[in-house]
Amino acid sequence: MSKKFYITTPIYYPSASPHLGHAYCTTLCDIIARGKRMRGYDTFFLTGLDEHGEKIQKNAAAKGVTPQAFVDEIATRFTSLWNTMSISNDDFIRTTQERHVKTVEDIFSKFVVNEDVYLSSYKGWYCVHEESYWTETQVGEDHICPECGRPVEEKEEGAYFFKCSKYVNNLLKYYDENPTFIVPVGRKTEMINNFIKPGLNDLCVTRTTFDWGIPVRESTGHVIYVWLDALTNYITALGYGQENNEKFKNYWEDPDCEVVHVIGADITRFHTIYWPMFLEALNLRKPDKVFVHGLMMMKDGKMSKSKGNVIPVPPLVEHYGVDSVRWYLAREIIFGQDGQFTPEQFIERLNADLSNNIGNLLNRTVSMITKYFGGQIPEYKGDLNDLDKNLHDMFDKTITTYEVLSDDLKVTESYAAVMDLVSAANKYIEESAPWALAKDPAKADLLASCMQHLASVIYLAGMLLSPIFVNKSEKIFDQLGIPTDGRTYENACKFDYVSNLTVCKGEQLFPRLDAAAEIEFIQALMAAPKEKSAA
Ligand code: MSP
Repeated sequence: MSKKFYITTPIYYPSASPHLGHAYCTTLCDIIARGKRMRGYDTFFLTGLDEHGEKIQKNAAAKGVTPQAFVDEIATRFTSLWNTMSISNDDFIRTTQERHVKTVEDIFSKFVVNEDVYLSSYKGWYCVHEESYWTETQVGEDHICPECGRPVEEKEEGAYFFKCSKYVNNLLKYYDENPTFIVPVGRKTEMINNFIKPGLNDLCVTRTTFDWGIPVRESTGHVIYVWLDALTNYITALGYGQENNEKFKNYWEDPDCEVVHVIGADITRFHTIYWPMFLEALNLRKPDKVFVHGLMMMKDGKMSKSKGNVIPVPPLVEHYGVDSVRWYLAREIIFGQDGQFTPEQFIERLNADLSNNIGNLLNRTVSMITKYFGGQIPEYKGDLNDLDKNLHDMFDKTITTYEVLSDDLKVTESYAAVMDLVSAANKYIEESAPWALAKDPAKADLLASCMQHLASVIYLAGMLLSPIFVNKSEKIFDQLGIPTDGRTYENACKFDYVSNLTVCKGEQLFPRLDAAAEIEFIQALMAAPKEKSAA
């Protein structure tokens, strides 16, 4: 039985162009998905767009176009950004698609029949931006949205409510039985203390004040709340409630398939409180994990279109290459924590890790194998001294560390471990001094062993980095002379696989960047007119 993995990004609001913050989340999920595929998991990776709601309707009206035309246009900007970032998603769900709309209507009808929702009326403080109602206490005396800080307005409307009270005990039991359901775990405490303990109100799940949403069959004039509509994308995309539901059976319904939602901290409440309740009401399994990542900030706070501080992604990728941008996103900001983008750190990260470390190791090794062995990687001679033995041990340990950390979604740490192996190999060159070994015929075996150890480490590092380096890993393999059909995870994990292959010196993979000039280049990008710089 193959190991299975289902990973999703949030579905983004196509209310404006996507920026590096959106690219951050999708790229990290892509790296995780590619890593699992590399290791033989039957993987399904979903992303998409959350296209309904009042905000979209208002933005479309402001532009004088229909909401559908508005989202259709922005959808092309998202798909183009995913192309630019080499995102390998298996499906792209849009909540205006028929497969989704029909299923959401059915889900709502099921809730009506089972009395999980009831009709009443709602009065509260509403934030148009977050599309959320808040209580008097939550908005405080200033009547400010606790999520985004914008002013809220008082509203009353006839509405359906979802009976949270019926499911809250089941939810708490699920938290208890699945201590890694919410990661990082501090987020769970936040949910319990801020939302559940003070008393969870039933959730208002329809709206009557606008019509850009999925209609409620049972009551004319009501549209389904955008969050109930949005969350269900994770199952409608797999075919839940549809004729063609093989993927749903294969992934969601298989208890051995790990189901992971990756989200930003701003939407934790919906994913960890209401989503499990909806699933319980549908009698469906819940996700194994909701992983909450941090925000990509700029010097003046959160990156956002309205602040005008977004980084345009396409010119960044065009200039530095997609692998370098992906590397920066995975390695610079610890996945799960907030991080800040600065041009200085961006360039420093690329120079330190890519040019000075992995690029340097590859150049030196291929040059030495060419010089000392006519290009043929020598045979494995075993661990001839402590330096060899230590590097060999580290090779083995890196595989385990990488697997354990990446299964825990410690993406940054897992790739830091790979770079540690690369640093160790560079240090090993200094300590083994192959140039001295080459002068002494009695040390021929040591020299051969040294070259073989280095080539093995590079093959493994190139493979482990391939979920990030969608282009450069292949170039690393080309330079090592790995046959196309031999480029597998299993082979890269074999210490003696590379012996007898013939290296092929190629271009420098990561030329060193001139910090001053590059910082100037990025600063100019950040200052460019924003609409033009949109993805
Ligand atoms: N449509 C809802 C999600 C529904 S999921 C069923 C939504 N969309 S959003 O476009 O506003 O934001 C979605 C996600 O984008 C955030 O949760 C976060 O993962 C990501 N990011 C948006 N800006 C970001 C940064 N500046 N930094 C990191 N991630 C960012 O909420």
